[in-house]
Amino acid sequence: MAIERTLSIIKPDAVAKNVIGDIIRRFEENGLEVIGTRMTHLSAAEAGRFYAVHAGRPFYNDLCAFMSSGPVLAMVLEGKNAVLLNRQLMGATNPKEAEAGTIRAEHADTIDANAVHGSDSAENAAIEIAFFFGDLDLHSRL
Ligand code: CMP
Repeated sequence: MAIERTLSIIKPDAVAKNVIGDIIRRFEENGLEVIGTRMTHLSAAEAGRFYAVHAGRPFYNDLCAFMSSGPVLAMVLEGKNAVLLNRQLMGATNPKEAEAGTIRAEHADTIDANAVHGSDSAENAAIEIAFFFGDLDLHSRL
């Protein structure tokens, strides 16, 4: 299994619920290492740039409004199979479909307020990591 990096965002709903620690605990207990973190409050335009791949989809404006409604915690996770492992730990995008025990089943309320974002491929992870972080911000312990 390849060592990968992936981008995780703890979204405004989960930050407001004060469950940052619970979410990071799940990553660490499953073998992922946090190698960079940044708390920020995105503007609607920044959220729009981050989610540009979804521009034009019916949910795009609501998504950008939600993602700029409060602070988020962006972080880079590193470990074996990090992209897929993070997605398994998050659960399905729609919390109503998320498997019991996953982050979204535990902490998400709606498809927009779904607690966390995770990159969907190693290729997109590299693009999404570069959106928030420079090389000097990342601290691998491999
Ligand atoms: P995320 O993993 O951050 O990627 C895009 C986000 O758009 C997704 O999580 C959801 O929060 C949001 N979204 C809202 N409606 C939909 C939809 N119908 N399909 C996919 N994503 C949606």
